[in-house]
Amino acid sequence: RHHVLSLADFTAAEYDIVLQTAASFQEVLSRRTKKVPALQGQVVANLFFEPSTRTRSSFELAAKRLSADTLNFAASTSSMTKGETILDTAKTYLAMGTDIMVIRHKEAGVPNAIAQEMDRLGVRVSVLNAGDGQHEHPSQGLLDLFTICSLIDPANPRLELLKGKKIAIVGDILHSRVARSNIWSLIASGAQVHLAAPPTLLPKFFAEYIFEDEPVPPGQLFIHWELEPALQNADFVMTLRLQKERMTAHLLPSLREYHQLFGITRAKLQRCQPNVKVLHPGPVNRGVEISSDLMDDPEFSLIQSQVTSGVAVRMALLYLIGSGKT
Ligand code: CP
Repeated sequence: RHHVLSLADFTAAEYDIVLQTAASFQEVLSRRTKKVPALQGQVVANLFFEPSTRTRSSFELAAKRLSADTLNFAASTSSMTKGETILDTAKTYLAMGTDIMVIRHKEAGVPNAIAQEMDRLGVRVSVLNAGDGQHEHPSQGLLDLFTICSLIDPANPRLELLKGKKIAIVGDILHSRVARSNIWSLIASGAQVHLAAPPTLLPKFFAEYIFEDEPVPPGQLFIHWELEPALQNADFVMTLRLQKERMTAHLLPSLREYHQLFGITRAKLQRCQPNVKVLHPGPVNRGVEISSDLMDDPEFSLIQSQVTSGVAVRMALLYLIGSGKT
């Protein structure tokens, strides 16, 4: 694999390679030096056309831990403010010797378009999708998978550990690129995936829309307009941010009403397995998707672990792509 644009076509073997490689980098990160020379001389450009805190910083840190040189770009301080196009921006970074472009954009398909242009030019530049519109966020899907699998078996995180587990994904699924990447990886693992959201944020045709021409996996994907059936005996609860910036007014429930019906609290977790864990990709609307005290409680919350896992998983992606091992 030359580019990572989506998890839709990831194979079970590829998931396991990423999980195992991330586990080995997690070990490297626990050492005092924290650094390996794997990508020495390579250039990783973070081209973020949309704001980010954790994805951009953890890709930068991951590249530095692999001894690559990093370039950081933000559209608001770039020559795009003078009219330069996205493709011309990418070609400018190509001309500086970039080997891997990490791309985030508010529109779906921009990383794909840049990857196609690089392929058309016949250059060996890889493109990593760091989140495109409502389409996908593959590195987030992989770090969520790694967070869960390495909690179950830290020494040997692997896809099969999730087989038969019940995982609830709760919140603004309609606008969530994270949910789409999570759905691909969790379905591939054999987990039972239960989606729960208000009808305005989770149309009943959602599963057909995701799977397009493929059949919806029987017995693996369930859609609920109430929270309770999704939480019943769940092993993991993945909460999602209400993406107000992508909503028209009629889609947005009041935040108080949303929290009352779909916000995750200690009381609502009583329905889940006793050792249930809660995830959120961040940024969090504190007290809306998840109660503030639960968010900060390490007994239940994996939110900080997700951020920590992000560095090792992004090291794995950069290493596997940069060394041509995917
Ligand atoms: N989860 C995530 O993508 O966060 P950022 O927008 O801060 O990168």
